[in-house]
Amino acid sequence: MRYGHFDDERREYVISQPDTPLPWINYLGMEGYFGIISNTAGGYSFLSDARLRRLTRYRYNNVPADAGGRYIYIRDDSTGEYWSPTWQPTQTALESYECRHGLSYTTIASTYNGIRAETLYYVPLGETLEVWRLRLTNLGDEPRELSLFSSVEFCLWDAQDDATNFQRNFSTGEVEVVDGVIYHKTEYRERRGHFAYFACSEPLAGFDTSRDAFLGPYRGWDRPLAVERGTAGNSVANGWSPHGSHHVRLTLGPREEREVVFLLGYWENQPDMKFDPPDSQIIDKRGVRPVIEHWLRAETVDDGLEQLRARWSELLSTVQVETPDSHTNRMINTWNPYQCVATFNIGRSASSFESGVDRGLGFRDTNQDLLGFIHAMPERARQRLLDVASTQLANGGAYHQYQPLTKRGNDSIGSGFNDDPLWLVLSVAAYLKETGDVAILDELVPFDSDPATASPLLDHLRRSVRYTLDRRGPHGLPLIGRADWNDCLNLNSFSESPGESFQTAAIRDDGNAESVFIAGQFVLAADELAAIGLRLGHTEDAAELREWSDAMKAAVVAHGWDGAWFLRAYDDAGHPVGSSTNDEGQIYIEPQGMCVLAGIGLDDGRARRSLDSVSERLSTRHGEVLLQPAYTRYRPELGEISSYPPGYKENAGIFCQTNAWIMIAEAMTGDAGAAFEYYRRINPSAREDISEVHRCEPYVYAQMIAGRDAATPGEAKNSWLTGTAAWNFVAMTQWILGIRPEHDGLRIDPVIPAAWPGFTATRRFRGATYRIRVRKPVGVTGRVRKLMVDGVRLDGIVIPPAAPGSSVEVDATVESELDVAS
Ligand code: BGC
Ligand code: NOJ
Repeated sequence: MRYGHFDDERREYVISQPDTPLPWINYLGMEGYFGIISNTAGGYSFLSDARLRRLTRYRYNNVPADAGGRYIYIRDDSTGEYWSPTWQPTQTALESYECRHGLSYTTIASTYNGIRAETLYYVPLGETLEVWRLRLTNLGDEPRELSLFSSVEFCLWDAQDDATNFQRNFSTGEVEVVDGVIYHKTEYRERRGHFAYFACSEPLAGFDTSRDAFLGPYRGWDRPLAVERGTAGNSVANGWSPHGSHHVRLTLGPREEREVVFLLGYWENQPDMKFDPPDSQIIDKRGVRPVIEHWLRAETVDDGLEQLRARWSELLSTVQVETPDSHTNRMINTWNPYQCVATFNIGRSASSFESGVDRGLGFRDTNQDLLGFIHAMPERARQRLLDVASTQLANGGAYHQYQPLTKRGNDSIGSGFNDDPLWLVLSVAAYLKETGDVAILDELVPFDSDPATASPLLDHLRRSVRYTLDRRGPHGLPLIGRADWNDCLNLNSFSESPGESFQTAAIRDDGNAESVFIAGQFVLAADELAAIGLRLGHTEDAAELREWSDAMKAAVVAHGWDGAWFLRAYDDAGHPVGSSTNDEGQIYIEPQGMCVLAGIGLDDGRARRSLDSVSERLSTRHGEVLLQPAYTRYRPELGEISSYPPGYKENAGIFCQTNAWIMIAEAMTGDAGAAFEYYRRINPSAREDISEVHRCEPYVYAQMIAGRDAATPGEAKNSWLTGTAAWNFVAMTQWILGIRPEHDGLRIDPVIPAAWPGFTATRRFRGATYRIRVRKPVGVTGRVRKLMVDGVRLDGIVIPPAAPGSSVEVDATVESELDVAS
């Protein structure tokens, strides 16, 4: 069953009924001012950091779900009837409803009682504000007397404090209302230089800034007293819950259409320009007023939307493909890179499931998110690499998370996730391959945000590798620390206290547990760093790195192989985890993916065997589960993984990010059919028809799809903010379609399904545009045997970088393995 459809031409997902199984959200903002918005206008906004600079409130576990948002109420003043044109919060039975989630904008349109209302929401480029443009049309032949009421509930900036510290924050709220603009200025009197504002293009009949005055006692958003009454209270908030509501009265003639613009924005004043007059407590509005006036104009709003569309067209034009599979095309051309931008911007911090208060940007997450983002905005990727590297610790380790606003490591979660530092090597390598910008390696970057410790980025990468090398366990494999990629495999914590965080629980005896996953990751990272070293002429360093990598490979072969797959780990007592000798959790997916990615076992059959084991034991029609058999009871020696009921999350859920590693591994071993089939199973667009099972948005990946052991197999959870976005983009574009940036140029090495006759693609790479056509006989699989570049046959399949600005015609011919053999 579907709840809408893709409008591929307009790059929109069109939702045709408001009560989707879960709020289906979109993101507003691309640069600094962000918001989430659901298909019924629920959601909230923040500047840079969903925890520290939150503009509006949102309650995650409220009933009904998704309450609180960017609401407009329409009231028929002749009858007193009122409704929400976005369905929520009044849930009036609208005569028509359509939400279009586009690229950084959303429109929600409906008709009710002879009035059509369409609201466009977006954040203009270069601004710290959001526009809500309401278009109202009287569909009838009689004039209509209407009232509009807007509504936002302000957050007192620090979202965590706002939701918990009521003894203080019920007394701090302050607002100003001047010339119809509502200013929210809590704590502006003291150390904050910023405030929020809420403006309207029309003259006001009234306003409210006290939530309780607007709603009335014991009422919810579905029946605010002010709206019911038809007049605002002109309330001024003093403490309690500051709120913003404009009341506009208008008469719409027969068939008349009117536009009303609302602006919700954020503004910062310099410390010496906070107040006007300077000795008062009144906000100095000289900076913000012209911005408000500008954006309240209809033409400005139209232009801003055009600019946003143009920006997205430009960004997406970096990679465009035309394959025989429409799900691949729409994901790769639009939605997957779009999701990659969201994960780059927001990390794992703000979605319908991520409350924004407990995580900033993860170290490993950020480095992986970059993999799907570098090609689109290399300059921003560069800055982010330097930011994340500057939170690295001097010993090469890493804070697990940092706050985007302060750019400092987060003490409360700390460090000791031993995979973290290696991801930095992999993201920098990917950046270099995409851009060729080796100068980044010389950038001076601090450790732990302390400028006195600044040293070249290259030194950071060396320390990442050293960190792992210096922390090996009894089998010569890397110590896992708190956890590796799998945050829930906590082999050293033995937590028995209810509620204790598995991520911060004390580690017993320094922790002896070892990770085969990190071993694979180390091989990959050491090889990448060796390749970088060779390019820089550091031959000795490169040789040393290769030795380390070889030694680690040997350790994996000697101690990390279970007979038919790679082991997952050794626990603190030295027992294998992810082994046929275990009663549950005999095989885990992560080491199969990571070890093959690192090239381990490609030459001796182990890689193939391990992937066959994945297919035999982990494969389901909804995707490949993380482990089997699922853990049926809690095991303190394994930690959080065994805390989940079977089939969910890390305990044998389909953790979609790991599936991408298997796709890549299959492509590396040349199994085109398997690689594509794994891609298809979790492709959200390909799952659209089973939306009632999948339940999350069909246009973005979710972190997890419940596995075969779950009560609800196939049900997705935690959509939007997941490493799945970047990794699936990499898996499809670089390994299945095989258009892969390398230090020396663009490799063309597709591993595509037998049924395909080929595909075409456009790829911008280091300033040149490559128009690529791949041809293949239908019914066979194979590899590129002939590559023509601008009509000339190339020796090999790596095209050297062309002059920036140039356009390159690439013709690749795939031949079947059989033809080559005969
Ligand atoms: C989740 C993991 C996540 C971890 C850290 C766990 O509860 O299952 O997926 O990585 O929390 O936030
Ligand atoms: C989600 C976390 O954000 C990520 O860092 C982790 O690798 C996965 N969960 C797996 O536990």
